Amino acid sequence: MSQSPDGPTFYERMGGAPVFEQIVAEFYRGVANDPVLRALYPETDLGPAERRLRMFLEQYWGGPTTYQQERGHPRLRMRHLPYAVTPDQRDRWLRHMVAAVDAVDLEPALRGVLLDYLVRAAYSMVNAAGEGPEAGPA
Ligand code: HEM
Repeated sequence: MSQSPDGPTFYERMGGAPVFEQIVAEFYRGVANDPVLRALYPETDLGPAERRLRMFLEQYWGGPTTYQQERGHPRLRMRHLPYAVTPDQRDRWLRHMVAAVDAVDLEPALRGVLLDYLVRAAYSMVNAAGEGPEAGPA
């Protein structure tokens, strides 16, 4: 993302590590309580998945690059191919993510930019049709 060389990063403007930690923790509480979405996650312990998503988001918004060091290039669409991400899974993912973002007190402009990215990213991750008639894009 763009940032001026001397200005704060989006990561910093959002509040840095504690805010990312809070959003992702809240998101995974939602996943844990959503049996349909939870069934996609292979590990019994959601902790490692939570950490990967947090590191990725921190890096994406200009924070520490630990994700890249540990996992290499994100190639997120490819990494999601083993999981059948249907439009229903996408909508569940987004519902928990919006709730998690709204659980922290972000400036409306930051909230808007963050959610816009997350919605587009979630739509791009869909790789399976799911069951039943599918409505076209809104
Ligand atoms: C659209 C709905 C989505 C579903 C159902 C979904 C589901 C999953 C699942 C099941 C995993 C494997 C758990 C793990 O071991 O890490 C995963 C990994 C991951 N997801 Fe998603 N995901 C979705 C969208 C997204 C979006 C929009 C992003 C980023 C903005 C994202 C970022 C990640 C990251 C960073 C990983 C770990 C990749 C790695 O390093 O292995 N996901 N996701």
